[in-house]
Amino acid sequence: MAIPPAGTAAFQSAARILSALLEARTGQILSEGRAWRMETALRPVLRTYGFQTIDDLAATLLRKRDPRLDEAVVNALLNNESSFFRDLQVFDMIHRQILPQIQQDKADRTLRIWSAGCSTGQEAYSLAIRLRNEAERWQGWRIEILATDISSSAIEQARAGIFAQMDVQRGLAVNDLIKWFEPHGDDWRVSPQLRRMIDFRRDNLFDPKAPSGAYDLILCRNVLLYFTPERRAEVLRLLARHSHDRSVLLLGAGETVIGHGDDFLPHADFRGGYAPQPFMAKSAAGSMCRVG
Ligand SMILES: C[S@@+](CC[C@H](N)C(=O)[O-])C[C@H]1O[C@@H](n2cnc3c(N)ncnc32)[C@H](O)[C@@H]1O
Repeated sequence: MAIPPAGTAAFQSAARILSALLEARTGQILSEGRAWRMETALRPVLRTYGFQTIDDLAATLLRKRDPRLDEAVVNALLNNESSFFRDLQVFDMIHRQILPQIQQDKADRTLRIWSAGCSTGQEAYSLAIRLRNEAERWQGWRIEILATDISSSAIEQARAGIFAQMDVQRGLAVNDLIKWFEPHGDDWRVSPQLRRMIDFRRDNLFDPKAPSGAYDLILCRNVLLYFTPERRAEVLRLLARHSHDRSVLLLGAGETVIGHGDDFLPHADFRGGYAPQPFMAKSAAGSMCRVG
């Protein structure tokens, strides 16, 4: 399969077309580093659709609308890197500090969590594992976990809950593997009890349909990184619209709200967490929500 070498004019022109498609569909900007990896990422798409070169693919994308091809290209170009209990200290803080606070605050005994940009689901499953391991503490509570991502292939995998040996070796304790997964050929499958806890939906943060009402805890980790500052502010505005005055937002280690609008402030109690600016209005549903 001939892929024009990165750096040639043909490659750069194809890369521009493919980056533009990715940005239009997801808001993501391909950094130079990721543009170099484009050819590796797209190899399976070229093979499946029978394109000889990345140039042919780009030319076809320009010439005719094929939603399936568009989607395959976008899925291939997205960075879906994730792992169980990624940044373990964040999960420890959720477990030891944030959830106990929510338990104290919520007289209605509902816990609502949104994993926004959940990729293949490890983040949401990590939360579900911690909650299930403490089942007595949550007796009588209604727990809702929404997990959304724009990548249809990532959401499919998340829903199926099937992970390779290599994936479960990254971050998952052996006890949790034995307790919450079952062998599935050479892979592992998340138990039905955990799968049932999570509502996985394909959803675009710039055209959101899945979230509703306010969430007590929102995780949007390692997602903003690839957006322009304006787009980051836009996503934070959306997350603020789905927050109440005591919600907690967690971003990835290299991400911050600072410089991206004024919807969230560093949290006074939870290191690395963010709190919505004092709320301004009640949502139509009656819960305290900010107006975006
Ligand atoms: C690097 S992964 C992070 C996964 C997980 N949050 C974590 O930290 O392990 C970033 C995810 O954001 C998703 N994403 C990118 N743009 C998006 C958009 N516009 N709407 C929803 N999800 C998006 C990607 O598909 C990808 O799965």
